[in-house]
Amino acid sequence: MRIIEAKDYEDMSRKAAAIIGAQVLLKPNCALGLATGSTPIGAYNQLIDWYKQGYLDFSRVSTYNLDEYRGLSHDNPQSYHYFMNEHLFSHINIDIEATHVPDGSNPNAEEACSSYDALVEAAGYVDLQLLGIGNNGHIGFNEPAAAFAAGTQCVDLTESTIEANSRLFDHIEDVPRQAYTMGVGTIMHARRVLLIASGPKKAQAIYDTVRGPVTPEVPASVLQLHADCTIVADSEALALLT
Ligand code: F6R
Repeated sequence: MRIIEAKDYEDMSRKAAAIIGAQVLLKPNCALGLATGSTPIGAYNQLIDWYKQGYLDFSRVSTYNLDEYRGLSHDNPQSYHYFMNEHLFSHINIDIEATHVPDGSNPNAEEACSSYDALVEAAGYVDLQLLGIGNNGHIGFNEPAAAFAAGTQCVDLTESTIEANSRLFDHIEDVPRQAYTMGVGTIMHARRVLLIASGPKKAQAIYDTVRGPVTPEVPASVLQLHADCTIVADSEALALLT
């Protein structure tokens, strides 16, 4: 694991965007695995800026998002489909047909998950997977569990995740209780992984990810076994490591 320390959120975002931007420059038709949540917004803003300044071209890039709430339609403002359009896709020259998010509007979980797996596998998996990390060490919506999940699955969100994500909903009862998420196995197929983290709430999860045993109780700890994993985190998120 390579750990890059950033001063603060802004610095973390710029460094992460530089790594993603370099991937797009090196392989203009690359497949990017993308994440939602608060953490990547700054990096997406930086990528949009560099696109607008003419430094980056996304016309041949394809994307595969990690996860989506089950039961939310694509045009629901709380859905991750909507989030990605709002925070990245509608601001750059990406072919929207080449962007993929698990289909939360499909009530048939088995079909939604297996078709997403088939899609990612047919693409030959992603060149670079961007990840945030949950306060409990989750990646995607792979919550602490007794075993690592291989492919895309339908998961019950833990109370701590529901509570953490409720800040984006009017009422905590509105937070969906289930999500479709790429499995840890699919994430590990990515040729490179970039995990980003900011703020003191992530410090324990980052410590456990880097120093703890590899265990499905801390899903991100599996990244210790990835051949090319970079963590870009600010000093608050790295506080317990130093
Ligand atoms: C989102 C995702 C989640 C988040 C994690 C951190 O697509 O896969 O694992 O990355 O919950 O969320 P934030 O960035 O909001 O702290």
